[in-house]
Amino acid sequence: MDIEINGRPQSVDVQPETPLLWVLRDVLHMTGTKFGCGMALCGACTVHVDGAPVRACITPVSSVAGHKVTTIEAMADDPVGRRVQAAWLELGVPQCGYCQAGQIMSATGLLRQNAKPSDAEIDQAMGGNICRCGTYTRIRAAIRKAAGQ
Ligand code: FES
Ligand code: FES
Repeated sequence: MDIEINGRPQSVDVQPETPLLWVLRDVLHMTGTKFGCGMALCGACTVHVDGAPVRACITPVSSVAGHKVTTIEAMADDPVGRRVQAAWLELGVPQCGYCQAGQIMSATGLLRQNAKPSDAEIDQAMGGNICRCGTYTRIRAAIRKAAGQ
C-alpha cells in the first residue's frame, strides 16, 4: 500500500484493515504516536489526516491512501505546531508525557481551525484527549499562549 506520511511517500506491506497506528509504530518505527486504549477513547494516538485530527488506532491504513498523514514527528516543521510546542515547553505542560503527542496534535488541529478559541472551545476540542497526570489546566493555558491570548 502506498501512503504519504509527513510529506514523504511510503510503501508498506500490510493488510488494508491494519490500523494506521500500527503501521506508524511497528512498520515505520515512528514511535512518537502513542497507543493508549485502541478504542478511540483516549486520544494518545492522534495524528492529522489532511490537517484534521483523527485517531490512528481505529483508522484502517487503506483509508488514508491518497491523503496526507502528519504525525508529531513533523510538528516542528509546521508553523502552528511549532507555536504549540514552544508554548508547551515554556509552560512545562507534560508530566509523564505519555499523552502529550496526542494533546499537541489535537491542539494544533484546533488552532488551525480556530486561531483564537475560547476556553469552552478549547475544552470541547480537547475533550477526547485523556491525561492521567491531570495536566489539563496547563494544556489549556498553553493553547491560549500559542494563540497569542
Ligand atoms: S489509542 Fe487511539 S484513542 Fe486511545
Ligand atoms: S502527562 Fe502523563 S498522561 Fe498526560
